[in-house]
Amino acid sequence: MTDDPNVAAAQVKDGIAWLSFNRPAKRNAMNPALNRRMAALLDELEFDKGVRVLVLKGEGAAWSAGMDLKEYFRETEAEGLGAIRRAQREAYSWWRRLRWFQKPTIAMVNGWCFGGGYGPLFACDLAVAADEAQFALSEINWGILPGGGATKVVVDLMSMRDAMYHALTGELIDGKRAAAWKLVNESVPLAQLETRVAEIAGILIKKNPVTLKATKDAIRRVKEMSYDNAEDDLIRAQEAANSFANEGRKEGIKQFIDEKAYKPGLGPYDRSRG
Ligand code: COA
Repeated sequence: MTDDPNVAAAQVKDGIAWLSFNRPAKRNAMNPALNRRMAALLDELEFDKGVRVLVLKGEGAAWSAGMDLKEYFRETEAEGLGAIRRAQREAYSWWRRLRWFQKPTIAMVNGWCFGGGYGPLFACDLAVAADEAQFALSEINWGILPGGGATKVVVDLMSMRDAMYHALTGELIDGKRAAAWKLVNESVPLAQLETRVAEIAGILIKKNPVTLKATKDAIRRVKEMSYDNAEDDLIRAQEAANSFANEGRKEGIKQFIDEKAYKPGLGPYDRSRG
């Protein structure tokens, strides 16, 4: 198993990190090396001051043909349960990182998007597809159920009827239908895809970055909550965002570590000084 650093790539320009699936010859199927590389790139980009928005795109004809059937499934299965679980962790963990990424994220779906690809698709806050892109839960065609979150993705985003049809038939849908079924926000002709995504990124770049992060997290969190819990959570989230620059903790640490003026285990720091 290789650890090729070129299986995923990133380029930062004008506040946008263009992060690419970069195995075009394999239709950007996600193998373990790609999953590890994506995690490393997200680490590099997340707190890069030059990055205000992240766009996830695919090199070549595909966005991602899903999990690599040879390297992710067959080869790890041959190594046993430990290897299977490790490969799953490597895939799921970068998708989770992406779901809660510090900056807003946009999936720019230029081409094929299959099965496991729905994990990073859902992880992106917004998704714009080319009309020409092709989506399918192809798992049914080769004999597994849509795992790796893919079933959860379609149930969360689509109507139950559309999700069921999509998962049971494995039929391809194009970008326009993916937009109609709410798998993506919208679709545009491939020739206009990058321009449209850059336009949306431009809207986001003008917003307060603390508010963007608080809002994207709130949208994902409240979906799982009752109205009353959401109402309460949003008050706390807003107040946490308001006090993002709260300096009190720093004063508390300084008075203990630097000044030895008090012991946090025995009482509070001197609040009159900060
Ligand atoms: N896993 C492993 N290899 C894959 C792959 C995948 N998911 N998707 C494509 N590839 C490989 C092919 O085996 C082929 O390798 P080779 O050149 O060494 O023979 C190469 O990528 C190109 O694929 P090919 O099928 O020739 O391209 P295509 O443009 O004719 O068709 C697809 C593109 C995406 C329709 C087709 O590759 C496909 O059906 N892929 C599997 C999609 C899938 O079911 N994914 C779900 C996984 S959860």
